[in-house]
Amino acid sequence: MFLRNMWYVAAFSADLKPGKCLARRYLNEPVVLFRGQSGVISALIDRCSHRAMPLSEGHVEGDTIRCAYHGLEFGTSGLCTRIPGQERIPAAANLRSYPVVERDELVWIWMGDPADADPSLILSNPEHTDPAWSWRPYYMHVKSNWQLLVDNILDLTHVAYIHANTIGGNASTHFGADVSVNFDGEKVTLLRKMPDSAPPRTYIEAGGFKGNVDRWQKVDYQPGTGNVLRVNAGACDVGTGAYEGKRDNGFMLLNMHGVTPETETTTHYIWTICTNVPKETGVPDRLFDQWYDTICEDERALEAQQRRINDTPNMKFVGIASDGAVNRARSLLETMLAAEQPRAAVPAA
Ligand code: FES
Ligand SMILES: [Fe+2]
Repeated sequence: MFLRNMWYVAAFSADLKPGKCLARRYLNEPVVLFRGQSGVISALIDRCSHRAMPLSEGHVEGDTIRCAYHGLEFGTSGLCTRIPGQERIPAAANLRSYPVVERDELVWIWMGDPADADPSLILSNPEHTDPAWSWRPYYMHVKSNWQLLVDNILDLTHVAYIHANTIGGNASTHFGADVSVNFDGEKVTLLRKMPDSAPPRTYIEAGGFKGNVDRWQKVDYQPGTGNVLRVNAGACDVGTGAYEGKRDNGFMLLNMHGVTPETETTTHYIWTICTNVPKETGVPDRLFDQWYDTICEDERALEAQQRRINDTPNMKFVGIASDGAVNRARSLLETMLAAEQPRAAVPAA
């Protein structure tokens, strides 16, 4: 299933230099993103109206894109602006365009009804432009359904097993965590506290901890503001006020996970990792490298799950206690999907 009336992270701003285009499939539709010389980004269906040549094979000139085959040109809104050798341009030559918004170094796309695309809904990610934070962007093409990825981030008990060698630490710490799931009708929040726990290797290197820590992980998922999960994780020395919000002397990590369906079984995983540890220490670079290894562990698990799901399409999942946030999210997405379906026709009397 795909939700169309939702903002998705399409790419990083840096992926689109002026005069360049990028071909990507979203929700099973071929799209070309291009940045004109004025800096404006556009998204059009990646199919020329003349003979279906992918426009991404063409060239960007000024703020238009020219088809590589017979030279039709299209403007930012999909309007066909030129057909070589003829004056009249039929309306049928125009292309579908998709609303795009560039914000916080991200390019967002709306695949649903353009009339419903409200940029004010989009979640902000201020760390990407705040000099107090170091950050790094990553793109992964994951061969799994997008909902498996949402599930992965909303059930962090997997950290103890999948990430035992990186950020995991002690399994009993994770299963003994003080976990709360909150749902306000629009947002699922998972909060895990691991007070007075031994920090994992990554945290010791990054935070310089000498003893136990008060550790937290908070995941927010509000798909109405974009299909993105934000994870705020970190630790402070025991008893220094981490759970009352006094975290300035602690170690903080923010992960933005953009989950953008490509097809039913493949996903654009567009994510960033940010930390408050100063760049000059050299810690962020080591941390980010290690974090990439961590996410690769997730990627391997997701792809293995998808292969097995393909083998056993009629088998269902069994629920366990740690699925609380996952279940909330899945039912929220189902509600949103139902709201997108056209109303059933009223039968004639
Ligand atoms: S296919 Fe694009 S101009 Fe002919
Ligand atoms: Fe993970």
